[in-house]
Order: sequence, then C-alpha cells, then structure tokens
Amino acid sequence: MENIAGKTALVTGASQGLGRVIALELAKAGCRVIVNYANHSGNAEKVVAEITAAGGTAEPFRCDVSDEPAVHAMFAALEERFGGVDILVNNARIDPWRREASMSEGEWFDRVLSINLKGALLTSFAFMPKAMERRYGRIVNVSSVRAFRAAEPNMIAYGVSKLGMHGLTRAFAEQGAPFNVTCNTVAPGMILSENIAKRLTPEKYAEECSAIPMRRGGTAEEIADAVLFPIRNGYVTGETININGGMYYAP
Ligand SMILES: NC(=O)c1ccc[n+]([C@@H]2O[C@H](COP(=O)([O-])OP(=O)(O)OC[C@H]3O[C@@H](n4cnc5c(N)ncnc54)[C@H](OP(=O)(O)O)[C@@H]3O)[C@@H](O)[C@H]2O)c1
Repeated sequence: MENIAGKTALVTGASQGLGRVIALELAKAGCRVIVNYANHSGNAEKVVAEITAAGGTAEPFRCDVSDEPAVHAMFAALEERFGGVDILVNNARIDPWRREASMSEGEWFDRVLSINLKGALLTSFAFMPKAMERRYGRIVNVSSVRAFRAAEPNMIAYGVSKLGMHGLTRAFAEQGAPFNVTCNTVAPGMILSENIAKRLTPEKYAEECSAIPMRRGGTAEEIADAVLFPIRNGYVTGETININGGMYYAP
C-alpha cells in the first residue's frame, strides 16, 4: 500500500461523525488534514485539537461547499499555504432529517442537492487540474446505501443526491486515470454516529439493527478504513465500496 505520510488531505464535513473519524485516521497515516466545516467552528476546533494531541497535523477550514466562490477561495488558499491538496474526501452533507417545516419540496430538493452533490462536484472540479498536473490525486466520495434503495418521500432528495455521487465518481475517475488521479465511492449503511445517536432512541436503533443482515450498525472506524483503502491503493478507480453489513442485498 502507498505511503501517504506528508500528503495534504481535505475532508469536507469533518467537524463531527464519519468525517471526524476519517480525518483522525488520515492524520494517523501521517497526512496534514484540513478539517472542513460550514457552521460549527467549535466542533471543528475540537477535531483539530484531538488530532494535534495525538501528534498529528490539522487545521480547521470554514467553507460552505455549495458556495462556488468560497470553494475556489479555499483551494487557492490551500495551494498557497501547503502547495495544494493531494487527497479529497467529499463527505459533507446537510442533515437529511432536519428539514425546516417552511420549505417546499422543491426548495428542500435544491438545498440537499446543492450541498451533498453540487458541493462534491465543485470541490472535485477545483481539485482536478492541479492534481493532474502533479500526477497524483485521490478522491473518495461518501455516498450511502440509500442511493440504491427506494426512499420514503422525505428521503428522496437525500437518496438522489447520493446516487448522483456515483456519476461524479465515474466522470472524475475517467478524467483522472491517465494522470494517476483516482476517484472512488464508499457507500455506508447505517453507522452509529453522533447524528444517529441523537435521532434514534436506543430501542429504535436496536429495531433498525434487527433488519440488517449482520444485526448491527457499522462503526465510523469501519467506514474510515474503507475510505483509506482506495487512497492507499492507487490502482483502484471508478469503484464503489459498499460497506453496510449486508443491507445492499437485503430486501
Ligand atoms: N451516519 C450514517 O449512518 C451514514 C450512513 C450512510 C451514509 N452516510 C454519509 O456519511 C457522511 C457523513 O455522515 P455523518 O452522519 O457523519 O454526517 P453529519 O453528522 O450530519 O455531519 C455532517 C458534516 O457536514 C458538514 N456540513 C454540513 N453542511 C455543509 C456545507 N454546506 N459545507 C461544508 N460542510 C458542511 C457539517 O459541518 P457543520 O456542523 O459545521 O455544518 C458536519 O461536519 C455523509 O455524506 C452521509 O451522507 C452516513
């Protein structure tokens, strides 16, 4: 497996949940990690402190990934300060269970697609030219098992945004392949994160787990491990790693 020590890794939405653990694991592997967030600077500072306390290197970076000029400004700043971004993990998402009651179907769809899917498109477009020039780049898009399953009405926008990420993966994988720039997707099932812990009572969580073939949710560490695999293995591109305890094939 490739040594990624010394690489600069940008993890979007790294201030909590899976993004936080992916950031911690990249830092353990020796990367300088940019902990991106949009709203909660305190959470991002905590992740940076955790990485630093463990001997790693990290910086918080506030940027709403759906804001095109802000994304360009972030990449320009990272280019100037660190000589660019080597590894991009598109993990940010709007919490799909926090729809404001005042939002119409169309407004909610636009909002979800804008952060979850357009955000990943914008960061990838900003990332690609320099990565191809340097002949090194790794993108991992964080999708969901919900990309492949029929969604209840409230989750249609989320599922569609995640399915769209597989299209991004194929497009950027093809563009980057001759330049040693890979792009892959990791699609988690139900993972016990802060968000799930807040949203589900222990009883409801246990009930949802009983419908998973492996009878448990995954851990953020298991997802981070899957994210690091195509970063360290430079011959995997355009692929999806489904990691969901069997939910992908279960009825
Ligand atoms: N948890 C699961 O069970 C599960 C299952 C399948 C797939 N996934 C996928 O795994 C990823 C992480 O999930 P999670 O549960 O850890 O997410 P989460 O707890 O909802 O955290 C979302 C992160 O995204 C950031 N964010 C929100 N809007 C943003 C924006 N406009 N620009 C930049 N950052 C933004 C948040 O930062 P602020 O708080 O600062 O806004 C936060 O750090 C997501 O892509 C999700 O779809 C999760």
